[in-house]
Amino acid sequence: MSNSSDFSSRTGGGTNPFGGLRVAVTGGTSGLGLALVREFLSRGARVAFVARTRERVERVARENAGAHGIAGDVSSKEDIYPVALQITGELGGLDVLVNNASDLGPLPLAMLSDTECEDLERAFATNVIGPFRLTKALMGALAASAREGLGAVVLNISSDAAVNAYPGWGAYGASKAALQHLSRIWGEEHAADHIRFLSLDPGDMDTPMHAAALPDADPLTLKRPEEAARELADAVAAALPVRELEGALS
Ligand SMILES: NC(=O)c1ccc[n+]([C@@H]2O[C@H](COP(=O)([O-])OP(=O)(O)OC[C@H]3O[C@@H](n4cnc5c(N)ncnc54)[C@H](OP(=O)(O)O)[C@@H]3O)[C@@H](O)[C@H]2O)c1
Repeated sequence: MSNSSDFSSRTGGGTNPFGGLRVAVTGGTSGLGLALVREFLSRGARVAFVARTRERVERVARENAGAHGIAGDVSSKEDIYPVALQITGELGGLDVLVNNASDLGPLPLAMLSDTECEDLERAFATNVIGPFRLTKALMGALAASAREGLGAVVLNISSDAAVNAYPGWGAYGASKAALQHLSRIWGEEHAADHIRFLSLDPGDMDTPMHAAALPDADPLTLKRPEEAARELADAVAAALPVRELEGALS
């Protein structure tokens, strides 16, 4: 359980569950990830984000004061530990990890029988193995936060393709289904440690990924990533042990 000075220093003495919260977001330079970086910052969190394209990482860090940019590829085994070390080094620990970076598999989308094994491998490396490795690498930091009563949440970004068998979405859908099941098992295994695992579908959003998958879709029919980011941040807030923390102050 945290002592009141730990909690006060993180929250500024208020009850904002995000005040001083240490959050890491993968895929933070575009679409939903960028909207999440901005949403968490606006709520008072300290944010580190990861993406592959260094120039975009540097630009997003420049344009969003307080956000720490990290260039790295979550699908690369070699990148995971350097990325995890930079996250905990920049933030001094970690309370919330958002595994958001994702790969569609073959583009244009293809039936499974026309999908190259390399495209399937890349989708699983980015959408399942990468989040698995990064979460494992950061588990010690998350467990420390949970032990102190500050709360720890892993939010894995899912999709309706994880549950619906959409033709043409085989590599992506199968990998998102695996990530969703991983989240459920992880959640069971860490319930006693108070590390919460969320697997949430943000809905169809107007983002570069959606445009790459379905170029003919009308953007006006799609959700804004900023709206999805607000909903997801609310879900993270609900998963944090706010009442317990407030109790620790009295
Ligand atoms: N858009 C939708 O309608 C929709 C619907 C349901 C679920 N989702 C999910 O929502 C999440 C965000 O999607 P989005 O539409 O916002 O995507 P997006 O606009 O394409 O953004 C993807 C972000 O991830 C980064 N990224 C991609 N591969 C990476 C890797 N291997 N390592 C590190 N960073 C990587 C990209 O930057 P770099 O390319 O520079 O690395 C970029 O910052 C994904 O999990 C997606 O599956 C989206």
